[in-house]
Amino acid sequence: MHKEFERTLVTAALPYANGPLHIGHIAGCYLPADIYVRFLRLKGEDVVFICGSDEHGVPITLQAKKEGVSPRQIVDRYHELMKQTFRDFGIHFDIYSRTTHPGHYQTASEFFKVLNDKGIFQIIETEQYYDEEACQFLADRYIAGECPKCGNPDAYGDQCEKCGTSLSPMELKNPRSLLSGKPPVLRKTKNWYLPLNLFQKDIEQYINTRKNWKPNVMGQCKSWLEMGDGLQPRAMTRDLEWGVPVPLEEAKGKVLYVWFDAPIGYISATKELMPERWKTYWQDKKTRLIHFIGKDNIVFHCIIFPAMLMAHGNFILPDNVPANEFLNLEGQKISTSRRWAVWVHEYLEDFPGMQDSLRYALCTNMPETKDNDFTWKEFQLRHNSELVAILGNFVHRTLVLTHKFFNGQVPNPSSFIKEDLHALSECKAAIREMAGCIEEFHFRDAIQKMMQVARIGNKYLADMEPWKLGDTQEERKKAILYTSVQITAMLSVVCEPFLPFTSEKLKNMLACHHLGWNNLEHDHLIPPGHKFGKPEILFRKIEDLEVENQIKKLNEVKNKSTTSEPEEKPVNEISYDDFSRLRLIVATIEQAEKVAGADKLLRLTLNDGKEKRTVVSGIALHYTPEEIIGKQVLLLANLAPKKLRGIESKGMILMAENSDGKLIFVAPETKTQNGAPVK
Ligand code: MF3
Ligand code: ZN
Repeated sequence: MHKEFERTLVTAALPYANGPLHIGHIAGCYLPADIYVRFLRLKGEDVVFICGSDEHGVPITLQAKKEGVSPRQIVDRYHELMKQTFRDFGIHFDIYSRTTHPGHYQTASEFFKVLNDKGIFQIIETEQYYDEEACQFLADRYIAGECPKCGNPDAYGDQCEKCGTSLSPMELKNPRSLLSGKPPVLRKTKNWYLPLNLFQKDIEQYINTRKNWKPNVMGQCKSWLEMGDGLQPRAMTRDLEWGVPVPLEEAKGKVLYVWFDAPIGYISATKELMPERWKTYWQDKKTRLIHFIGKDNIVFHCIIFPAMLMAHGNFILPDNVPANEFLNLEGQKISTSRRWAVWVHEYLEDFPGMQDSLRYALCTNMPETKDNDFTWKEFQLRHNSELVAILGNFVHRTLVLTHKFFNGQVPNPSSFIKEDLHALSECKAAIREMAGCIEEFHFRDAIQKMMQVARIGNKYLADMEPWKLGDTQEERKKAILYTSVQITAMLSVVCEPFLPFTSEKLKNMLACHHLGWNNLEHDHLIPPGHKFGKPEILFRKIEDLEVENQIKKLNEVKNKSTTSEPEEKPVNEISYDDFSRLRLIVATIEQAEKVAGADKLLRLTLNDGKEKRTVVSGIALHYTPEEIIGKQVLLLANLAPKKLRGIESKGMILMAENSDGKLIFVAPETKTQNGAPVK
């Protein structure tokens, strides 16, 4: 554990209670969090693991409307389902609470009142769309209209799903309310804003002093901080019915913004779990706070929630926010509404007792640094060729031979040869590396190191071939099986964070429930004479038919799906049309200078054959202005202009990124006239 800390509070994003859990949720957030927590528990550290359902917000009310039931019915149904699914899948929270819990209403209201009493909020009056028939203000998702960019008549107030543009309701042409179908009217309303602009400096200071943050997380934070004129005030109250009521007389009929109340849910759940001791976990600087989330939650956890905590004043700030990217399914984005997903509760019905097989597939393929794809074929392959053929095979041979030769009792060898000792020390080295990887949130590498232990064992047995030894070589048989048993015992401990059900079975078979992380430093985890429990099958093979059925099931859902939403294209594929919309040309850098106050940015003046244009480029850590003046580059010329640090940037230059993360210029091989098209 990091020396300055005495305990760790781990949270996993509170999932919206508007649908069942799918593999994207698990791989993005809950599995890495669970592995991390199990590892800390295994080492005997003080750790608390918090989660619960996020039961407010527009996604819930939309689902309720779609099903013609109340939001309450929706959240009750999905809260129970998710809670049960987590439990069945071995995601082991200390508490799984919910944001409709009365204690949460109280905690969130008090938090709001503290900020209000401190005069933090700005009350701002704006005009918002209002449905006169339904008598309510309309959340962005409740307004549809024509997309100003592509003309799609069914764009939503926050986004056009056809062309992907983010919108605000005011940009829609001919807006209509999705509640009544009528055109909405504009009405004045007052809301309570958190002036994030006033926290810009403190948040920058906070972000810049974080150590070991993942590059994908840092990158998003920096781009938020550097965007346009920096952070903007954000409304923390909304004119909606479903949510935590704003605890002020003058705000009747308003509720707290869901991204205000939900992260406070972490605090409420901790209180519920430990009414006496919760403050130690939230207010003592010796606590390390870690939020596991998916990438769409980064700004809320790295900027907005820390700003709320700073504004309040009594709380510690997140020490790390190891966010993952997204998992796709068979080449397409996972989608709850289009039902393109593998639902975890259905998986558990179709593959009973095989939690660890899915945990294994999701961990080895976790979207840690980029989006990844889950396919049933790869699931089957990983299971059969790794869990069955390596881990299962090694354990099986060790146990069967020990039962056969020594009656299921650990033998007592009188001497070892260097191969025996070498196998043990290699395993211990792999385990040390595994621990380092988990501590740095590199779970894919970590599970490889864990499997490395099984590989070492497997190879050792194959090299030693104890089954070929005759009666005169009794001593060697003893040493080989003794050594294999010690490796199996190590595995029973170190596989626990990743494969908890397998760990349990192994410990049953070896009768070694007493073993913990601290025993791993010894070569001798299980003494001679120790008697084993009953052998069981660790992993059975997965047949072709089983995964073919899963693929069939997915495609059936897709064909039956009656939603009017546009068909999702395979995520990695674009049409020629998409490509031809990019205007790529050759240009020359004529001037370059640093952008004051931004270490990463250079302001470039490019000659594009027609005119000089300004491009702000994030290459200042790689190049000085002097060394790049005169270079030719490839320019994406029709990228929408964007303000960076107050400078309007028109276009983007293309760079290659090498394996060290250094950016390298991409340019025509010989000097080419500026403006030449790249196709
Ligand atoms: N419900 C949100 C989502 O699924 C996550 C909320 S995390 C919390 O994207 F911090 F707000 F709790
Ligand atoms: Zn559009």
